[in-house]
Amino acid sequence: MSFQFETVRRIESRPGAVEDLGVLVRGLSCRRLLVVTDSGIEKSGLLDGPLRSLRAEMDQVSVFSKVQADPPEAVVLEAVAQAREEKIDGIVGLGGGSSLDTAKIAALLACTPQKLDDIYGIGLARGERLPLVLIPTTAGTGSEVTPIAILTTPSTEKKGVVAPQLLPDIALLDAKLTLSVPPLVTAATGIDAMVHAIEAYTSKHLKNPLSDAMAVRALRLLHGNLQKVLANGSDLAGREAMLEGSMMAGMSFANAPVGAVHALAYPLGAHFHLPHGLCNALMLPHVLVFNAEARPDLYAELAEVVLPGTAGTVQEKARVFTEEMTRLAIESGLPRNLREAKIPESALPDLAEDAMKVERLLRNNPREVVYDDALHLYQQAWRVA
Ligand SMILES: NC(=O)c1ccc[n+]([C@@H]2O[C@H](COP(=O)([O-])OP(=O)(O)OC[C@H]3O[C@@H](n4cnc5c(N)ncnc54)[C@H](O)[C@@H]3O)[C@@H](O)[C@H]2O)c1
Ligand SMILES: [Fe+2]
Repeated sequence: MSFQFETVRRIESRPGAVEDLGVLVRGLSCRRLLVVTDSGIEKSGLLDGPLRSLRAEMDQVSVFSKVQADPPEAVVLEAVAQAREEKIDGIVGLGGGSSLDTAKIAALLACTPQKLDDIYGIGLARGERLPLVLIPTTAGTGSEVTPIAILTTPSTEKKGVVAPQLLPDIALLDAKLTLSVPPLVTAATGIDAMVHAIEAYTSKHLKNPLSDAMAVRALRLLHGNLQKVLANGSDLAGREAMLEGSMMAGMSFANAPVGAVHALAYPLGAHFHLPHGLCNALMLPHVLVFNAEARPDLYAELAEVVLPGTAGTVQEKARVFTEEMTRLAIESGLPRNLREAKIPESALPDLAEDAMKVERLLRNNPREVVYDDALHLYQQAWRVA
């Protein structure tokens, strides 16, 4: 079978690894670093160890901590301006997906004359970026191993930059950083990671054997550990498994792109500022049932992954998988429907219209989605008990 697969050159995964960040960065030929993060992380103290370690090795270490969820363009451009002003020659992104995505674009735009508007889309970025290390503090987006950054435009559209330069030099996984993630963020980000694995495995385009293998392992780890870390947030082994799972799901979907769950989630995030993972969790059960009609075989294979020994026909197994994912979403404690998430029913037609613009992702979905389908899926997500 012909396929292509690209990923980061180096991954370091070890609880406590962030304490040695300075030594790790030494090999990247930079002296003036900018650490990109958000204010919550800065206040939590999670930065203290990494900053101490970096300051012992570098000439200058500055912090940009104004990152916001679903990063607005203006904030990202502020990070770029700071990097330019301070003649920064290396970027460390430390935080959830929002911080990592901001760090990626800062590393790129700090040293190319291109404008943000010119690089939205696939493969449009030119030239080099600054040396880049990405350190996730949520087990969710997998952004540390994807060539993707998702920003929010002034017209409240979530847009993606996809370019090989956005893969970092080093992805550093330190599960200790994720011990403090509160339960609802743990649930939302964990389900986001599972959706990455599911949508990569069922992607209509670029599905490939490496992505499949990673999606399967990711789903097993995430499904097996989400409820454990929700019950006990300081379960380090469980947190490590979640972080490994989200990273592998990231590698998987970086090469076999996600579909309709994400396409329908984006407008919810852009217009109503719901967390990205929650948007996915709200749409997942409905899109799974819709998609399983077209490719029950794929969802039946995933049933074997999460519930080995599942019996029945392909259709029955696909239904078992859909029901299991719905159960997990419900038991995670997140809002169960768009009503609980305070989305007015009158907004659904506009949301469906916006979802249809996410052609970059809809084209990967195993079943075609037209406007009426999108509206129907939002209506189901609104009405479900
Ligand atoms: N680049 C990609 O491949 C990719 C993939 C999926 C999603 N995304 C994007 O990533 C963003 C979502 O990222 P996210 O879900 O990680 O959330 P986030 O980065 O927006 O963070 C959510 C909240 O969790 C807090 N937080 C993060 N780590 C914490 C910790 N260890 N302890 C306590 N609090 C912590 C943050 O301060 C923030 O308040 C969205 O913009 C989404 O579109 C990108
Ligand atoms: Fe996602």
